[in-house]
Amino acid sequence: MSSIIEVKDLITEYNGERILDGVSVDVKKGSIFVILGGSGCGKTTLLKHIIGLLFPVSGSIKVFGQEIVGMEEKKFEEILENCGMLFQEGALLNSLSVGENIAIPLRQHTDLDEEIIQRVVRTKLHLVELDYALNLSPSELSGGMKKRVALARAIALDPKILFCDEPSAGLDPVTTREIDKLLMKLRDQLDMTIIAVTHVVDSVRRIADEIIFLDDGKVMFTGSFDKAEKSDIPQIKKFFID
Ligand SMILES: Nc1ncnc2c1ncn2[C@@H]1O[C@H](COP(=O)(O)OP(=O)(O)OP(=O)(O)O)[C@@H](O)[C@H]1O
Ligand SMILES: [Mg+2]
Repeated sequence: MSSIIEVKDLITEYNGERILDGVSVDVKKGSIFVILGGSGCGKTTLLKHIIGLLFPVSGSIKVFGQEIVGMEEKKFEEILENCGMLFQEGALLNSLSVGENIAIPLRQHTDLDEEIIQRVVRTKLHLVELDYALNLSPSELSGGMKKRVALARAIALDPKILFCDEPSAGLDPVTTREIDKLLMKLRDQLDMTIIAVTHVVDSVRRIADEIIFLDDGKVMFTGSFDKAEKSDIPQIKKFFID
């Protein structure tokens, strides 16, 4: 399998405070790559660097084989159009209907006809099994439904890479399983590459093709779930016990 994201020796800081201290990752095309680590260790920070929201102190980040650190904005926009992002906070607009929320990226990045936009919106809603929610307000939805709508919006432009920051945070085990099934469907049927941050052990077991574990600014483990479960590294053992 070929690499779709390659991060090398990434060093990042917030106001002079080092967060990631030489992080390297290699994500294979068509896989689900899971980032683990304690709260505040820099998981979201890593995602934000890969999608260019933050600029590193040093290091290299290649997406689709192209170096994005220092890339000209216009060129980077093209890369971003192939990336979907499910943010940790979800971030649906309550002033817009579910359908209109999903239409946002289509209106922003394409000049598709209204009819086509509506068709894409319905297709994505169908994929997350929320056909009936088209005209509802996000405020009328449960937490799990909101996550599914946010997921439908994140994949509106059929991205090749989907970033999911805690897709199951605050959800019950049944809803978590539904979200996991959706992610695996995207990987298996659409060959999407998915980078997910999660701390739900059952979820990691189900979806992860590869795991990295961040601690103290560094990658302390890379490998499969089975290998992680058998690891002797104390921080990883603790993750599986808690
Ligand atoms: N905008 C910011 N300005 C300054 N410091 C920040 C900012 N965002 C995050 N940090 C700090 O960087 C560190 C890493 O934060 P990050 O959000 O990447 O952690 P995380 O691993 O995603 O944690 P969580 O599991 O709680 O979501 C934390 O110490 C945090 O306080
Ligand atoms: Mg985070």
